[in-house]
Amino acid sequence: MERINKILSSPQFIRAINETKKAEQGRIYCLHGLEHAADTARISYILSLEEGTELKKDIIYAAALLHDTGRFRQYADGTPHQKASVEIAAEILPQCGFYDNEISEILSAIDTHRHGETKNKLGKILQKADNLSRLCFDCSARSTCKWKENEMNMGLEY
Ligand SMILES: [Fe+2]
Ligand SMILES: [Fe+2]
Repeated sequence: MERINKILSSPQFIRAINETKKAEQGRIYCLHGLEHAADTARISYILSLEEGTELKKDIIYAAALLHDTGRFRQYADGTPHQKASVEIAAEILPQCGFYDNEISEILSAIDTHRHGETKNKLGKILQKADNLSRLCFDCSARSTCKWKENEMNMGLEY
C-alpha cells in the first residue's frame, strides 16, 4: 500500500481534508473527512471481495480516499464536489505513482459517485460503499436530512 500512504502524506490531500474539516465545523449532517474516506475505502474493498472483482486493492483505496476531497470547494463556491474532487485527485495521483490508465479509471469513479450515471465497476462499488458508510440509524439529524427515507441505512448491512 505504498502508493496509498503517498496519498495520505500528499500536501494537496492534507490541505483538502483540513479545509473540509474547517468548513464542516458545527455541521449536523454527515461529515466528509478522513474517517468517512477510510470507512468508504474499507467497505469498498469488502464489496469488491464479496463481488469477486479483480480490482486492485490500492486502486479501490485511492478512489475512496479521494472521492470527497473537493467537498470544501462546494461549500466555498458551489462547485459540485465530485467535479472538484476529480480536479484534486488528478493532481495527486500522478505524484503517487499511479499510471495513466489507473488514473482515468479512478477519476471516472469519483466523477460519478453521487448519482446513478453510467459507471465503471469501481464507480459502482464506490457509490455503494459511500452510502453504506453512513450510520443513519444513529443520526440525530435524520428527520431533516435530504436523504430519502427508503435510502437511509436503518441497520448494518452484512
Ligand atoms: Fe461525495
Ligand atoms: Fe462520500
